[in-house]
Amino acid sequence: MKLSFHKNYPLEQLNTFRISAKAKLFYEFEDEKSLIKTLKSDVLKKEKLLILGGGSNILITKDFDGVVLKNSIKGINIITENKDRAQIEVGSGVNWHDFVMWSVNKNLSGIENLALIPGLVGAAPIQNIGAYGVEVKDSILDVHYIDIQNKTKNTISNNECNFSYRNSIFKCELKNKVIITKVIFQLSKKDLNQISYGAIKSELELLKEEPSCKTICKAVINIRTKKLPNPNVLGNSGSFFKNPIISNDLFNNLKIEYPEIIGYKHSASHTKVAAGWLIDKAGWKGYKEKNVGVYKKQALVLVNHGGANGQEILDLANKISESIFNKFKINIHPEVNII
Ligand code: EPU
Repeated sequence: MKLSFHKNYPLEQLNTFRISAKAKLFYEFEDEKSLIKTLKSDVLKKEKLLILGGGSNILITKDFDGVVLKNSIKGINIITENKDRAQIEVGSGVNWHDFVMWSVNKNLSGIENLALIPGLVGAAPIQNIGAYGVEVKDSILDVHYIDIQNKTKNTISNNECNFSYRNSIFKCELKNKVIITKVIFQLSKKDLNQISYGAIKSELELLKEEPSCKTICKAVINIRTKKLPNPNVLGNSGSFFKNPIISNDLFNNLKIEYPEIIGYKHSASHTKVAAGWLIDKAGWKGYKEKNVGVYKKQALVLVNHGGANGQEILDLANKISESIFNKFKINIHPEVNII
């Protein structure tokens, strides 16, 4: 197999912020074998490396002076099942939402609350994607990856992934060291009906539906479509910031001044605060400056109104963080990877 890298490859259609930037070299891999072969090539010894998935969680601030490897490992296969559960092996390059729809159509429950999250299956464990009361960690059994340094195949169990809120070993010890190739999921044949999140209950009432994996999936799709911009229409990468975790003391002090502040118990000593509320309260919702802005229906989402470059979005993000710190004495941090 001969490797041919594309030169000066445009990345605009490969990131959901729709930032136009170029990769010095570009290659798309479709299986573990071609990935390992690429990693062994001389070119990789000299060049910086960026692994690109769905491009939905990155902000590209300049041209990439190295090799971009695009993940296109496909395939969804049931590997074992009994009357209660099924184990499914999914290629890391499969579109996340396509996998959610595949599972719901087979009446397999566990990830229906995570419908419409942009990105690929391989990115799901990295930041332990979550929405509407569910995190993907509860449906993952194992993660298969290739070690970039040794070019070896490895498997890591759920426990070893150190999952927590929007975090895992892949963002810590294994950051930039591995490429996820397959994820093994365990889904339930019985509907899990995870409807603790208020908006799902109200949407099901509106739809006049009883909870099931199919109806919850439909409710989530409706809620997300109402609240979050479609990147094909307006460039964005979902929540730009993580919800900050602060001490209960600071939260209780803020609550005196802002009784309507929104926080959720994180641990005995800490509270997770809705960053969208903080940014909204600081007056940023719907803000527009040249080609960049804050989405009018969800202040946690920054948008490219067309033609923005990554640096402009980063400048806006920094201005927002500074204003949140000045107003509430809370540091907010990007969820998005800045390249
Ligand atoms: N809020 C406001 N103003 C806003 C936005 C939010 O007051 O402009 C308030 C809402 O009214 C709500 C609270 O803040 O009471 C939380 O808002 P929301 O339910 O929209 O959830 P979020 O905490 O802003 C998180 C995830 C989303 C996920 C939703 C739904 C993070 C960083 N984001 O957002 O994930 O879809 O919960 O579960 O945890 C993503 O990661 O890209 C993403 C979209």
